[in-house]
Amino acid sequence: MSVVEITDGAGKHLRFVEFDGKLYPKFSIDVITNMKSLKLRKDDIIISAYPKSGTHWLFEICRMLLAGRTDLQAISKSEFFIEKVGQDVLDQAKSPRILNSHVAFSDLPTDLAVKKPKIIYIRRNPKDLAVSFYNHCYKIPLFDYKGEFKDFIELFINGTVEYNCWYKQVLDWEKVIDNNTEYSILHLTYEDLKADPIAEIRKISDFLQVKKNEELIQGICDACSFAKMQTRMSHVFPDENGKSKIYRKGEVGDWKNWFTVAQSEWFDRVYRERMSGSKLKFRYSLDEDAK
Ligand code: A3P
Repeated sequence: MSVVEITDGAGKHLRFVEFDGKLYPKFSIDVITNMKSLKLRKDDIIISAYPKSGTHWLFEICRMLLAGRTDLQAISKSEFFIEKVGQDVLDQAKSPRILNSHVAFSDLPTDLAVKKPKIIYIRRNPKDLAVSFYNHCYKIPLFDYKGEFKDFIELFINGTVEYNCWYKQVLDWEKVIDNNTEYSILHLTYEDLKADPIAEIRKISDFLQVKKNEELIQGICDACSFAKMQTRMSHVFPDENGKSKIYRKGEVGDWKNWFTVAQSEWFDRVYRERMSGSKLKFRYSLDEDAK
């Protein structure tokens, strides 16, 4: 375990912690080392996603569903982030806990196979995700990155970013979901949540076995809209204007403002190569079907 410096094509650096050949944010070395042996509870809910797929949004929706109300005190999902918060702190939390993680399925705590908590997995189209990820690394001091988007996308494609290779992680999840006979997994996409939040929140509510309550679902949809969350969560990584750096734009298709035509075609080619054999489809705009 050591702090490593990754250098992009223009010589700009990003700093991570490396453990077991994988890159993590610079969190506590002890917590990262012990994450695999974290003890879970049967009634935990695990939100699992590659970074920038909509974890904060989903965390808040789940909190409100379990609480049965929308006027909750704003907290950050990082208080229940298993690669950041250790066993001793998580043990203090009341059940049911909504834990979250960005690690690959195979790196989740081994206790998952014993306790079999419910898992909600969310994925997002890689172009919007790469844009969101670049802004995250650029704006959040933990990474200390001052590179350009064009150089960051090479790091993303090469998997030399925190949580490593997006393609591999998404393919692994596809296999887990396709072959799953033992876990209770709800599979969502950022784009569906954006296109029809009521339908998706209803799905999450059913999955969590929350008593049917359309008024609550409507209230959560409203309370968890991007605009409302951007205001409520302003304390989470605030910028100089007091706005959260996490709630940046919250759109599908913002990638068109960042990728040149050539970069987009190159990214598409890489996608086809890396994802060959995958049946997964992504929506790159809400006006088009998934492809
Ligand atoms: P952008 O950077 O594209 O705006 P994560 O929570 O996994 O870190 O993902 C962060 C991304 O989810 C950010 O994307 C953020 O704006 C978006 N997001 C957070 N809350 C949202 C909401 N209520 N509606 C839509 N997008 C949201």
